[in-house]
Amino acid sequence: MKKYKCLLLTFLIFSQVIFSQVRTVKELDANWKFQKGNSENAFEINFDDSKWESVNVPHDWAIYGPFDKEIDKQNVAIVQNGETVASEKTGRTGALPHIGTAWYRNEFTISESEVTKKVILLFEGAMSEPQIYLNGKKVGEWAYGYSYFYFDISEFLKTGDNTLAVKLTNKEYASRWYPGAGLYRKVSLIIKNEESINQWGTSITTPFINEDVAKVNVKTKVSVKNGFLETTIFDTDGKQVSYDKSLVKFENEFDQNIKVENPQLWSPETPYLYKAVTQLFVNNELKDEVSTRFGIRDIKYEAHKGFSLNGEVRKFKGVCLHHDLGPLGTAINTAALRRQLTILKDMGCNAIRSSHNMPSFEQLELCDEMGFMFLAESFDEWAKPKVKNGYHRFFEDYAERDIINLVQATKNHPSIVMWSSGNEVPDQRGSEGVKRAKWLQDIFHREDPTRPVTVGMDQVKATMESGFGVLLDVPGLNYRVHLYEDAYEKFPQGFILGSETASTVSSRGIYKFPVVQEKNKQYDDFQSSSYDLEACSWSNIPDEDFVLQDDKPWVIGEFVWTGFDYLGEPTPYDKSWPSRSSYFGISDLAGLPKDRFYLYRSRWNTTNETLHILPHWNWKGREGEVTPVFVYTSYNSAELFVNGKSMGIQKKNNASPQNRYRLMWMDVRYEPGTLKVVAFNDEGHPVSEKEIHTAGKPYKIILNPDRKTIKSNGKDLSYVEVSVVDKNGIPCPNATNQLKFKVKGKGTYRAACNGDATSLEIFHKPTMKLFSGKLVVIIQSTNETGNIELLVSGKGLQNGKLNLVSKNEL
Ligand code: GAL
Repeated sequence: MKKYKCLLLTFLIFSQVIFSQVRTVKELDANWKFQKGNSENAFEINFDDSKWESVNVPHDWAIYGPFDKEIDKQNVAIVQNGETVASEKTGRTGALPHIGTAWYRNEFTISESEVTKKVILLFEGAMSEPQIYLNGKKVGEWAYGYSYFYFDISEFLKTGDNTLAVKLTNKEYASRWYPGAGLYRKVSLIIKNEESINQWGTSITTPFINEDVAKVNVKTKVSVKNGFLETTIFDTDGKQVSYDKSLVKFENEFDQNIKVENPQLWSPETPYLYKAVTQLFVNNELKDEVSTRFGIRDIKYEAHKGFSLNGEVRKFKGVCLHHDLGPLGTAINTAALRRQLTILKDMGCNAIRSSHNMPSFEQLELCDEMGFMFLAESFDEWAKPKVKNGYHRFFEDYAERDIINLVQATKNHPSIVMWSSGNEVPDQRGSEGVKRAKWLQDIFHREDPTRPVTVGMDQVKATMESGFGVLLDVPGLNYRVHLYEDAYEKFPQGFILGSETASTVSSRGIYKFPVVQEKNKQYDDFQSSSYDLEACSWSNIPDEDFVLQDDKPWVIGEFVWTGFDYLGEPTPYDKSWPSRSSYFGISDLAGLPKDRFYLYRSRWNTTNETLHILPHWNWKGREGEVTPVFVYTSYNSAELFVNGKSMGIQKKNNASPQNRYRLMWMDVRYEPGTLKVVAFNDEGHPVSEKEIHTAGKPYKIILNPDRKTIKSNGKDLSYVEVSVVDKNGIPCPNATNQLKFKVKGKGTYRAACNGDATSLEIFHKPTMKLFSGKLVVIIQSTNETGNIELLVSGKGLQNGKLNLVSKNEL
């Protein structure tokens, strides 16, 4: 302890630069120059980029639109959707201009003392096929747009200004969804001594845990022959709880086993985090220092028992997420990710699957902190193509390197509890595919012996015959609810994961009549009904998954497709322009909950009550017509009243999956007024009630921010929900008013989104129509502290005004 104290380094944290005596991390976020198109000489030092656009990184060049039907129009049969004949698909990749080549250039300074050091250039994602040049020379290249990768650039650097140039190329027909474009994740320089800890060289596991003590294993790969290593462990409050000094190296690796007494275990409910500070000394001189957050937790996957965390069997109540952040595109933003997780937490969700590629570091850090388990996936394709220019082009050369980087960069996150080597890969068929599955799984095992590997399988019958399914650590079924039993019997693992489930489609606030359960249902307005009874030919409604989750102890959980709508893949309207984003989300593209949110919440959130009525009650023209009412609730029974008249009591029952999880009054006839539901506890006593009312004309704009105070770092965001109410304050669920946004003071208008999958209004313009009475405006902080004012106006409406504050520290 004493030793540590006297060697304790002073960390000065300001701007994006973290200094310690021995290691500096500089994020290259500002002063980038950007140009779309190929400029042959753009890698040269003296290339004139003065006319290029100035941008900050992370950056997505395509999100600013405009939407265009012709972009990446694909004349294909989507085999995964059961199609055999090619047809024209518009909006499949979001109809945003992401195809083509672009260049980024950045000038950064290296001091005289830094130029003698070892310098690593780290990219956390570059879309795609990045080629990296420094001071006119090629440093290297990568292929997969979702990979993290780095180069040692020490030999390319000079004292003073250095010029970094990055060329990116997105091909057409390369994706099944909006991939984004550009340097959409962080780029940084890591400046350290030659004698140092390797990049991603620290591996922390917790092989033994009981109530009194945990054994923390810290493996540290270093670049030195001699020297010793000290590791100090701190608890969440920064108090030192353990220390170890190690003199022995095993080849290039120190291997320490450190005792932590009275360990606080990590779980979704108690996301407790420790920090290990590892210091490398050579000749008694501190040479390097790395700080690693970790959690103490134990995971097990056992036949007939399932998954357990810290000895407690539990199921994944998970969602799949694509990497785009709706109106922000793919440019990573911590505030946007935190908002997503906050919404999911309230729903009772406890797990995320990064479909179908590497998660951002920011997302994993938040999952560690906020308590989400994580299924980290790598690929949507192996050697066999799904799309003409997909990952199969790189598989042979890159798959191993991509997995190594995924695992090595992220292995210390306690949130990650499983890897996935692929999603619905066509290689599920044939013996070559079986070999590939084993090869990939073995790489994961070699890089990380502590976590199992799954593949999301849709060709379940084929994988039963080929030997593909039996070799996986975790057999993951995508949909195919009818094959769960069979798979459980045929596969030897003794449990099944719903690696992808539901794919129910709906549009927020849109209801269609008559209310019937149907597959591939399409309407003239290109919307799907929010009665949550519509799915695809291969998919199903949520309730069918719930049955399996509840009745089969050997089903270890599910990952619903998807937590939020995403750009691209507008099934069932992939041939119907202007549909350009998905309908699968539990919440829409703006993050606004659809009705389905409450269905999942009623089952997943076991601590708070859910009582939600649908549809809305503004049906001018439907007077006297059958307008079914559904209630999604954590209670088992309720009574419905229309204008005070009872529609009877409904009880959850086993007549059908939906009867088991929803309360449904199918014969209600619409009359304007009040819809009221009274919920009963199991003793039959009324315990809660809710009302919705028919609204009059839109009168006034209402603003409701998720955060009133944001950080003055130029990146933080407040999401403001905008809605309109009538004269009596009743929300107008059909309002489509065109609104305008003005932001004044120490904030800027960043984007808006209304969740309408058919809207061609572009997100960064300060005007948008309401969709089903709502939209979201996103305000971004500047680097200055102070007040921010948002003004929202619309013809014939009383303005909405909101004051926010931007502060240095929150
Ligand atoms: C799955 C696929 C997902 C998405 C989904 C839509 O088969 O894995 O990426 O396409 O279908 O239902």
